[in-house]
Amino acid sequence: MSGGRFDDSDFVRACRSEPHPRVPVWFMRQAGRSLPEYRAVRGTGSILDAIADPDRAAEITLQPVDRYGVDAAILFSDIVVPAHAVGFGVDVEPGTGPVVSRPFASRRDLDRLRPLDPAADTPYVIETVRRAVEALDVPLIGFAGAPFTVASYLVEGGPSRHHARTKALMVGDAALWHELMDRLADLAIASLVSQVEAGAAAVQLFDSWAGVLSPDQYRRGVAPHSARVLETLGSTGVPRIHFGVGTGELLDQMGGCGADVVGVDFRVSIDEARRRVGPGRALQGNLDPAVVLAGESAARDAAREVLAANDGHPGFIFNLGHGVLPESDPDVLARVVQVVHDEGRVLCR
Ligand code: CP3
Repeated sequence: MSGGRFDDSDFVRACRSEPHPRVPVWFMRQAGRSLPEYRAVRGTGSILDAIADPDRAAEITLQPVDRYGVDAAILFSDIVVPAHAVGFGVDVEPGTGPVVSRPFASRRDLDRLRPLDPAADTPYVIETVRRAVEALDVPLIGFAGAPFTVASYLVEGGPSRHHARTKALMVGDAALWHELMDRLADLAIASLVSQVEAGAAAVQLFDSWAGVLSPDQYRRGVAPHSARVLETLGSTGVPRIHFGVGTGELLDQMGGCGADVVGVDFRVSIDEARRRVGPGRALQGNLDPAVVLAGESAARDAAREVLAANDGHPGFIFNLGHGVLPESDPDVLARVVQVVHDEGRVLCR
C-alpha cells in the first residue's frame, strides 16, 4: 500500500532522496493560525469540535494549498485526537493547547488508554482524509504525536516548560513509563495506518518536545517507541518524517529510528544536520518561523541561506524550523514559497 498517485511528485521524490526538478516546500502548522479564511470557518469552541466535522476540517486542510501554492497539504487535526477519542479526558484550550483534568499519575490511569479503533473512534479523521485527498492535486501528509510528546501532555496535564513530572516518571518508574509509551505508540500506529488507508501519501511523527531530553534519556526511554511506530508504518510504503524541536544533540538517534526524513529545527544548519543524521535520510526544515515576522525581504534572504546550506541535495524538503507563528503575514509566507520554487535547485549527484 503506497501513496501511488503522488509517487512522482517533487515532495514524495524528495522524501525518498530521488532526483526531481525543484525543491518542494510546505509549512508545519500551515493549516490555521495566521489565515483569515481559517478563522472564518473555524468557529468558536474547542478545536476538537472543528476536527470532528469533516466539512470544516477538509476545507481548512485545503486552504493553505490554495493560498501559498505549497507542495503538500497537512491534515487538519491535532496530536491529542487519538487520546481524546479513547476517552482519556483531554481537551484543547484556545491559546493554551492541550489540557488534561486528571493527569496520568499511576498504573490505574493506563485503563484510560484502551486501543484505538479508528473506524469507530475517529471516523471523522478518515472521512476528512478521504475528502481532502479527493480535492487535492498535491500529496496529503497524515500525522500523529510521538509517544513522548503526547505523554508529556498527559502526565503534565498541560503545556510545560521543564517537563519535570514526565522525566521523573521516565526515570523513577521505568516499567510504568514503558507501558504508557507502548499504549501511546499503539494509538499513533492505529491512527497513522488509518490515515494512509484513507489516502495520506506520507506521514509525519511530531515529537515536538523531545529536545528537553538528554541523549541517554532519549535512547532508553523514547527512541525504541518512536522506532516501533516508524518501522511499523514502513509496511504501508509511504514516506515517514520524524520531527522534533531542539533536537540538535539527538539528530543521529532520530535518524536511526527508521524515518525516511528527519525534521531539523532552526538551531542547526542543514549542512551540519546532514553530517549528524548521516547518509540515506532526507532532511526537512529549517527557516526560523520568527524571521517571517521580520518582513518579506528578511524572510527571502533567510530562505536563500537555507537553500544554500542544502547545496542542491535531492533529499531536502523546505519547511520552517517549527510551526507557523500565529502573527505571521500570509503574504510573506507566500513569497517564501515563491523563492523556494524559483531558486531551489536540485543537483543530481
Ligand atoms: O500543521 C497544521 O497546520 C495541521 C494541523 C495541526 C494542529 N496541531 C492544529 C492546531 C497540527 C499538525 C498540530 C500538531 C500539534 N498539536 C503539535 C505538534 C506540532 C508543533 O507545533 O510542535 C502539538 C505540540 C500540538 C498541541 C497543541 N494544539 C498546541 C501546543 C496548540 C496551540 C495552542 C494555541 O492556540 O496556539 C494546539 C491547538 C491547535 N492545534 C491549533 C491548531 C490550528 C490552534 C488554534 C485553534 O485552536 O484554532
